[in-house]
Order: sequence, then C-alpha cells, then structure tokens
Amino acid sequence: MCGIVGYIGDREAEEILVKGLERLEYRGYDSAGVAVVEAGGAAPEGAAGNGAVGDGQAKGGAAAIPSGRLAVRKKKGKVGQLREALGGTNGPRGGGLRGSVGIGHTRWATHGAPSDVNAHPHTPPDGRFALVHNGIIENYAALKERLQEKGREFESSTDTEVLVHLIDDVQQATGLPLEEAVRQALTQTVGAYGIVVASAENPDFLIAARNGSPLILGVGDDGEHFIGSDAAPLIEHTRQVVYLEDGEMAVVRRDGYDVKTIEGADLEKEIHELEWDLEEIEKGGYEHFMLKEIMEQPTALEDCMRGRINPDKGQVLLGGLTEVMDRLGSADRVILVACGTSWHAALVGEYLIESLAKVPVEVEYASEFRYREPILREGDVVIAISQSGETADTLAAVREAQERGALALGVCNVVGSTIARETDAGVYLHAGPEIGVASTKAFTCQVCVLAMIALAMAEGRTLADDQMQAHLDALAGVPDKVRTELKRDEEVADLAKVYRYAANFLYLGRGYNFPVALEGALKLKEISYIHAEGYPAAEMKHGPIALIDRFMPVVFIAMKDSTYDKVVSNIEEVAARDGAVIAITNADNHELDDLCEYVMRVPETMEYLSPLLTVVPLQLMSYHMAVMRGCDVDQPRNLAKSVTVE
Ligand code: M6R
Repeated sequence: MCGIVGYIGDREAEEILVKGLERLEYRGYDSAGVAVVEAGGAAPEGAAGNGAVGDGQAKGGAAAIPSGRLAVRKKKGKVGQLREALGGTNGPRGGGLRGSVGIGHTRWATHGAPSDVNAHPHTPPDGRFALVHNGIIENYAALKERLQEKGREFESSTDTEVLVHLIDDVQQATGLPLEEAVRQALTQTVGAYGIVVASAENPDFLIAARNGSPLILGVGDDGEHFIGSDAAPLIEHTRQVVYLEDGEMAVVRRDGYDVKTIEGADLEKEIHELEWDLEEIEKGGYEHFMLKEIMEQPTALEDCMRGRINPDKGQVLLGGLTEVMDRLGSADRVILVACGTSWHAALVGEYLIESLAKVPVEVEYASEFRYREPILREGDVVIAISQSGETADTLAAVREAQERGALALGVCNVVGSTIARETDAGVYLHAGPEIGVASTKAFTCQVCVLAMIALAMAEGRTLADDQMQAHLDALAGVPDKVRTELKRDEEVADLAKVYRYAANFLYLGRGYNFPVALEGALKLKEISYIHAEGYPAAEMKHGPIALIDRFMPVVFIAMKDSTYDKVVSNIEEVAARDGAVIAITNADNHELDDLCEYVMRVPETMEYLSPLLTVVPLQLMSYHMAVMRGCDVDQPRNLAKSVTVE
C-alpha cells in the first residue's frame, strides 16, 4: 500500500520526509521518492525522473511567481536507496535537497511496474508542481486518451501522471490558481485518491485532498504542519491531528490551514489527540498484520473490483485481458496452476468458470504440472495464480506452458513481479500488500478476480444480460457482507477459546465450499500448528470417519445451497459418533442449532460467491486459536511469505 508524507515549516524538509517514509515502510512498497521546494534557481538538464525538476516559471495562463524550484528524487527499491541517492552530488550545496517544504511517497505499484519513472512524485512537463497519490484513478485511460489528443506526452505508465497532466491542463486553460485547478481536475476523476501537491511557485503551501484513501494533517508547534497517509510519519513530531474525510481538501501553510469540501464549501475541523504508539499505528491498531489483513478484506475487494464491473450495464471490463479475451472466451480448456492458498482459490475458479462460462477447467499443483510433461493443445489457456508472483513452481509452470505453445495468463497481487511480467496478459488483484505469511485477503481477491474472469468469459456467450446484471449486483454486494461478518469477530474468538487445545481438526464442505474446507484447514495448521485436514464432505465415509470421536472437532461448511441436504446428512453422521460439530451456515438458518456445538452465521449471497463469505470466520478462528496458543502469527515457523525455491 502506498504511503504519503508532507512537511511545511522552518526545518530542512528532506530528513523529515525520508524519515517519514521509513516509518511508512511497514505498509509494503517497491519505490520511493521526495520533492522539496528549493530556493529559486535554474533547473538542471533532464528534469524528470531521478533528478531535480522545475524552474518555478509557470507557463501558459498560470500566474508566475518566480520563487522556488522543485527538486525531485525518486528511486525504485528501498527508502535506503533513495537516501543514498539524496546523499549524492546533485544538491545545490553538494548533497541533499535544501528547502523547508516538501512531499514524499512510497509506491506499491498498481499501474505500471516498479521503476524510477513510475515512482512518485510526478510533475507536469515544466515541473511547476509535484504530486504524490495513493489510490486508483479508475477513469485514467479515458482521461489519458483525451489528454493525448491534445498533444500531451506521458513518461510513466501510472494513473497518477494522468492526474498531474489533467491539473496542468486545467490550469493552462483557465489560469486558475493551483488549488482551484486541483479542485476542478479532481471533479473529473472517478476512483480513489489521497493526494498531496507541492508548488514551486508558492513555497508556502501544500494542497491535500482525499477521496477513499486516508490522509491526516498533523498540527505542530512554531508553524510546522505535517501530512501523512497514516499517523506513523507524524507521531514523532506531533500528536495533534486533523482527519480529512472523503471529499475534503486542505490548503496547508506555515501559519495555518483551511479545509473545504471538493465543491468549495468551508469546513471547521476538529483537532484530535493521537493516542496510539508507533507499533500500534503500523498495524492499524491491530495486534498482528494477519488480523489487519483479514479486516481489510472489504476494502481490498472493493479495490479489486474498482472500475472493472458495471452492474447497471451488466459488464465486466478486465483491462489486462482485453487483447486475449476472445481467445480466452473461446478456449477449449482452461488450466489453473498455483500453490498453497492460491491453489485453493484455483479450485473455486474451476467451479466458477465451468458453471458460468461452460468451459472445461483443470486445476494443477504448479509443482506437479511443471514436471509431468503436460499435454497442451492449441485452444488451451493456462492461468497462473500467485499472490507474490514469485513462487518458483508457479513461475516454472508458466514457462513450461509457454514453451509448449499455450497462452499463459497471470493473476498476481504484486505488480511487476516475475509471473506478472512473464505471462502474456493478466489481472492484478489490487489487494494491497499482504505482509502476514498466512494468505487471507489475497485469497478472497483471487476468488473475486476468478469470478470476474468467469463472468467476462460468459458475457455474450453463456449468460443473458439480465443474468449478468444479477451476478454483478451480487458480486458488488460482497464487500458489505464481509463487513457485516467481521463484526462477529468476538463470537469467533469465544469459539476459538473452547477448541484451542484440540490436537486435530477436520474441515468438510461440498461444491464451492470444498476448497474453503481445504483453505480453513491450511490456515489453522500453518499458524497454530494444530493438525488439520480438509476433505469433500462425501469423502468422510471413505476413511476420515474412523477418526471421529468427541476429541475431534469437525468444521462443516453447510450453506443452504444445492449441496445442503447432503452436507446435513454428513453432519448427522458425525454427531451420531459423538464428534464435536462446528457449522458455518446462513444467517437465518437455525435447523442445525441442535445438531452442532457451535454455529457460525454468514450473510446470504449467490451460491458461487459463498466462498468469499464462508472463508472469513475460518480465517478468524485460526487467527484467534494461534494467538491463544502463543504462536507467532505473522511469521509462523519454517514458512516464508514468498517461496522462491522449489
Ligand atoms: O505467492 P503465492 O500465492 O504464489 O504463494 C503460494 C503459497 O506459497 C501460499 O499461498 C502459502 O500457501 C501461504 N502460506 C498460505 O497462507
């Protein structure tokens, strides 16, 4: 997740900004940059990118106040590398940037691979201002096309540079002051943003605006103000903060700040006192990254679908697949390759693509696929699913598929990762960085992307318009349903307390929820070290039933769907053998209350979307049990977040 820091005051900005970026490192990022307003002077050659830009001379209709210039440094990689670059010889006094107003950014790529050029801050061609941005501008492609028609050229592949050009375009055309041009440009954007803008022309102000991506204004002593995407970069300077809300914009000067709505109405904002310490802030107040990431799922799912589904028109638009959509839609066979949790998402994908798009699907462990000389025919499409995009076996499976002439697509979370780069086309999850080793929000976003792929394949082929609309409405409604179930966290914690000393667990489900049974078992074993197995519920009679006794908790996913009656029969069989049944079922279903020791309830949705809801209590249950057993939840023993060896 990207991070933002801004400073205006009387101290040198550079160190405050870089330190602020270090405080934001926990959010995960792939590049970093700063821009500082320096005292006037000519800009060096080769303005943009990893050097200094801007000469403070506004062009066109904008008011020219020759006062400063913006020096920009940005680097792919760690903040440490940016620090090194800043220590170079480019600064006016032989090293570093000199100025007491500036902005900084850590980027976690969403549009365009991690690189110096794609890193923020971004500037217009004359370097009159610099902008950092968190979030996603959904209509960036349409805006970019319009701006290109006007002759504008873009250096980066980012949606952020499009916003910069849009602001520049508005200002050039109207001669409005920068804050007004920013305001007008923002009214033309669709999507989520938290932005901060610094101006070479006016070294006594910063502009901050928010819609969907948090921004906090820190009020310091002696005319100092700070801006952060969270409180981490502010806390060592001040505890007095103002929270910007969606649709609000602040103009921040040394002597104060004004907050307005994007429409221009004045606002009185309350100053709050920060009570958290740094560690609490990094984890968003949660004890562990895993819990934070579980709780982030509603917004991660919203980001994942942002700009991609239009329920009113019954359309799915997956930009990364546009060029291959015909081939995918008419594929003879789809082969999904993945490992671990991503393999479980692939199993859900198999059900989704077969039932919605009516195309045969096979799911393969990437490690098996790569070595068994797979038979691939023209018309086969291989889709690799990987959160990290670096898993060695999945990458090898992609290469194997390509060598055998198949079209290889990627579903990755990490932008610019090896699998994302090497596949022929793909879809990003946009789930934000996942730091906890146990995958949670990546799983739900993978299932969400696979649902969108299945619907895109079905569009105009196997689903009528009204069916598409109903499916997309249901998909769009999922994030709020996840929000509702996350409110039951305490109930799940109570349940975890009861079973925390169990030595074994069995997870059973059918249909769409068989992969959820596997995922529930994997989550429990990897973080709590309790032995757990997942099975299709009907398989129980073929062996696992021998394990049932009163010391064996059995988790059934028993949603009221096409498999419900059969699952209830399996529950009866376990109850009859004194097994302790924990069931996950629909919110209003009380038929299982007498049969089960515990019932966890989840909201209603269409059958094919239920894994997005049924997995959530299982994630929470594993988390609480692991914490209660004193396990290292975020870094379980022997496990790595990204498995880059065979
Ligand atoms: O990055 P990937 O999605 O390719 O990783 C695959 C597995 O290594 C990963 O899902 C692993 O199983 C997780 N620890 C599960 O929580």
